[in-house]
Amino acid sequence: MTDTKAVSPAGLRTAVIGLGRMGLRHVQAAQGLGMQVIGGADPSADARATLARDYGVPANACHADGIAMLDALRPEALVVATTAPAHAALVLAAAQAGVRFILCEKPMARSLAEAQAMSAACDAAGARLAINHQMRFMDQYIEVKALTGSEAMGPLASVTVAASNFGLAMNASHYFEMFRYMTGEYVAEVSAWFEAAKLANPRGAQFDDASGRVLARTASGVALYLDFSAQAGWGVQVVYSCRNGQIVVDELRGEMKVAARQPEFRDLPTTRYGMPVDVEHRAIAPADVIVPTAAVWQAMLAGQDWPDGAAGAHALACLVAAHASHRKGGQTVRLDAPDLPRDEIFHWA
Ligand SMILES: NC(=O)c1ccc[n+]([C@@H]2O[C@H](COP(=O)([O-])OP(=O)(O)OC[C@H]3O[C@@H](n4cnc5c(N)ncnc54)[C@H](O)[C@@H]3O)[C@@H](O)[C@H]2O)c1
Repeated sequence: MTDTKAVSPAGLRTAVIGLGRMGLRHVQAAQGLGMQVIGGADPSADARATLARDYGVPANACHADGIAMLDALRPEALVVATTAPAHAALVLAAAQAGVRFILCEKPMARSLAEAQAMSAACDAAGARLAINHQMRFMDQYIEVKALTGSEAMGPLASVTVAASNFGLAMNASHYFEMFRYMTGEYVAEVSAWFEAAKLANPRGAQFDDASGRVLARTASGVALYLDFSAQAGWGVQVVYSCRNGQIVVDELRGEMKVAARQPEFRDLPTTRYGMPVDVEHRAIAPADVIVPTAAVWQAMLAGQDWPDGAAGAHALACLVAAHASHRKGGQTVRLDAPDLPRDEIFHWA
């Protein structure tokens, strides 16, 4: 049983495996919280040199191999910021090595079976596991969640993400977690239509991700529609449709528009969709990675409401169900379907 006693980040002996773009942001997030980054690992000599030179980590604590680093340094806390193929093996090794707090990047794993093994290993070792889906700590979602369901807006009916070529595993995975946070419900079923285009993956030719369209629904019928076509080259606009109005967020520019029916028109039926509204424009903090990543650490260490292995596995199950649906021509696939491919390895980054 994993305890949830609050632990201070100050001085926590922390290591980072995977020192690419995201790994170095993790180093900044951890150091910003006062955690002591005692070492790191990456097969790239350049990446290791950067960690030593720019972040004050002793060169002899910068290893090529993550498991050798765990054996040598025995950290209390660990970030796994490699690409997805190494997530499961490193989280399992960390749990066995007695690491108490593990923050692993998304997508959680390459398969549902790997994700299950990661959570089971952490539970067995009493280690806390977080998956870095930071949505619940980002103003652009916190502010919307406070509005949806309010008397002025009424209940949330759907979320439409008019995005661009941001990748199913790369970014759509975050939106499944956002939707779970926003609705308080898990996705029950998914339909997906991918495009044929195979595009160069920014993290290497060995990786494969999908573009296209996905429709997801909760058990109560709230819908999430994601449009992320390979033909679309700019933007992420999110429309939250509620009983009495709409919230539109331009996530890249940090702009929010809230339109709510004027109170005297609220009770008219939804078919009267053109009733007069009050409109409010707000600026929201543009999306940042380091601040909400630090918030994931703070929540996990406080033992309170962090994106845990179950949250990571839920986002992963949505990805797997999307692939299963696409293969069936867009047929709806339930997340609890007994034939969801649990062992299939996907080549996500
Ligand atoms: N949560 C977020 O907002 C967010 C943002 C960006 C990236 N990510 C995720 O973070 C991960 C890393 O992304 P990135 O942009 O830093 O990629 P990257 O390609 O820049 O860096 C990955 C690094 O991991 C190293 N690596 C790979 N396998 C390793 C292993 N077995 N042991 C040690 N090091 C290993 C590589 O050498 C490379 O330096 C991905 O899974 C990505 O999806 C998450």
